[in-house]
Amino acid sequence: MLKGLVDAAARRALFSLDAETAHGMTIKALASGLTPACPVPADPRLSVSLGDLTFPNPLGMAAGFDKNGEVPDALLKLGFGFTEVGTVTPRPQDGNPKPRVFRLVPDHGVINRLGFNNEGHAALRTRLLARRHRTGVVGVNVGANKDAQDRVADYVAGIETFADLASYFTVNISSPNTPGLRDLQARDALKELLARVLEARDAAARTHGRTVPVLLKIAPDVDEAGLDDIAAEVLAARVDGLIVSNTTLSRAGLTDTAGAGEAGGLSGRPLFRRATITLARMRQRVGPDLPLVGVGGIDSGETAWTKITAGATLIQLYTGLVYEGPGLVGRILTHLSACLDRHGLSSLEQAVGQNTDAWARLDPDADGAPA
Ligand code: FNR
Repeated sequence: MLKGLVDAAARRALFSLDAETAHGMTIKALASGLTPACPVPADPRLSVSLGDLTFPNPLGMAAGFDKNGEVPDALLKLGFGFTEVGTVTPRPQDGNPKPRVFRLVPDHGVINRLGFNNEGHAALRTRLLARRHRTGVVGVNVGANKDAQDRVADYVAGIETFADLASYFTVNISSPNTPGLRDLQARDALKELLARVLEARDAAARTHGRTVPVLLKIAPDVDEAGLDDIAAEVLAARVDGLIVSNTTLSRAGLTDTAGAGEAGGLSGRPLFRRATITLARMRQRVGPDLPLVGVGGIDSGETAWTKITAGATLIQLYTGLVYEGPGLVGRILTHLSACLDRHGLSSLEQAVGQNTDAWARLDPDADGAPA
């Protein structure tokens, strides 16, 4: 009760600031240890394994929140089962002119056109080195500088730089805010990218004695033929998993028409349906075994459970935290445990994909969820 009031007051204060300033203050608060205590009951049934990695629970902080790796341990302390730092590019870059992050409050959405503002590889490496003896799953999301001559080389440099520190890698080719980046999702470009990235990962494994899983993060705006191509290349190259999805360029179903006019990628509640349909369609294509991370519009226990039953092995969120506050983490995990009780399941894995076909059949631009 008291916690709910504190969350509501914190939200009011943060919402009185512009979105990027509020985010900066949140990072500062987390970095200075002003993290609210959010005791989350541990439930071993929620633990998920991916290769050698064990996730204490399936809920992760999505990329973009902690771009420079300033607060991974504070986020894990909030109850997240893992966190993903980045997107990081080889050289620091400022990103697009401000303002570039917009809340669409009536829709519980956010539009951002940050454009990979980050401090670069060296700064992130210093921070990750400083925490290297700590436990917890911390993924590194790698990208390319806007002015890169050879974009693939930037991804390869990311793999080489963090192979001794990353729990897993995310190859992010789905930000809408770096012109041309999403073209790497096209079949021939993707084939070359995956070959070079995995070669770099395998070479680093020979040096460091550890093969770091590589996940590919895709957009929710890929058409059916594009999904076919991505699935085929991912399976052929033996990528370790997919993250579905990044933000959307679609503005379908928004009530905040002024906000909808901003350029950039849309996240949060209005993305849920499109991202979940894309996830389910990808699950149908890759079969039951490939790990899929479901992200886009999770803002409650119910939406988290829906994402898992639509096909997600692990889940992530970002925008939900903006609207719901840190108490959301515990609420989601408690709800997932209750769902396992209700369905008589002994592990979360048994729930993955139970409702994939119903979600895959839906039209992303229409209303309604599967019965
Ligand atoms: C993001 N996201 C993102 N993704 C990524 O791979 N690299 C990044 O740097 C960022 N940056 C970023 C900034 C902001 C302000 C937002 C809101 C989002 C996308 C994010 O990780 C996630 O895929 C989407 O936001 C969908 O999830 P939610 O927010 O609906 O839970």
